[in-house]
Amino acid sequence: MINIDREKCVACGACVRDCIVHVLTAGADGVPTVRAEDEQFCINCQHCLAVCARGAVTCNGVGFADTLDVEPVSDGAAEAALIRQRRSVRHWGKGPIPEDVWKRLVDTLAWMPTGCNDHKLHFTVVRDAERMEWFRRETSKKLKMLVRTGVLQLLYPVFRRYVDEILRGDDIVFRNAPCMIVASTPKKAPCKEADPWIALSYFDLLAQANGLGTCWGGFAVHAFKLSRGFQRALKIPKGHSVGAVLLFGPPAFKYPRVTHPRPMPVDIL
Ligand SMILES: Cc1cc2nc3c(=O)[nH]c(=O)nc-3n(C[C@H](O)[C@H](O)[C@H](O)COP(=O)(O)O)c2cc1C
Repeated sequence: MINIDREKCVACGACVRDCIVHVLTAGADGVPTVRAEDEQFCINCQHCLAVCARGAVTCNGVGFADTLDVEPVSDGAAEAALIRQRRSVRHWGKGPIPEDVWKRLVDTLAWMPTGCNDHKLHFTVVRDAERMEWFRRETSKKLKMLVRTGVLQLLYPVFRRYVDEILRGDDIVFRNAPCMIVASTPKKAPCKEADPWIALSYFDLLAQANGLGTCWGGFAVHAFKLSRGFQRALKIPKGHSVGAVLLFGPPAFKYPRVTHPRPMPVDIL
């Protein structure tokens, strides 16, 4: 439900223009109104609330007092450097992740965009060393069995080059990372493929901006998709499927140089 405080509203029309589902319409005096039959189409994106400079809008129980002021962000140069300097980290340091960093990382997850503002992503953060060890051990057991029976080489030819490492018990799936975050989404979510990867991409950059190392867990996604036992251990909600996994922790070392990647084709039309 959207409420407009008529005392505060100056009928600027910004909320009406910015309502993607056209739930808000300008009344005769310019003050927005909501037709009862349209309310069901509201996706709770809260743009009406965010765009209102007067604090006149309450959207589904969230009003001006519940929201933060917009803070200045950099001119983009720092973010561009972050993207260039972000490296996949596979060697880990010992120290703990400071609690304020944990809080920032976890709190920010609420702002991850989802298709149609579905907002039903579920995140599982594993920070307990023993739990990580359990996933490592179980995965190693399963992989060894698949290698010995030849199934792995048959089904996943890409794994052939990892056979020696798997038999040695090296952790090619979780890269010995101390922590991981798993994003799962309802199987019926409108953008179930994209939402988890987008969310963890943002998490990735934020984690690296806070001095942490990260590495995508592409193999881990396969492991979690295939094993119900893993899904249970991760407490993935019923009806959800695992979408993306990001490994993270304090890095063992920093990269003093930026890579020089081959440019990818960009057509500007
Ligand atoms: C979708 C995706 C899945 C990946 N899965 C893995 C993985 O399972 N294990 C791993 O060590 N690295 C994984 N990576 C990391 C890539 O190997 C890495 O991004 C690439 O080599 C470039 O290195 P950089 O990230 O340091 O620039 C993955 C990356 C992406 C984008």
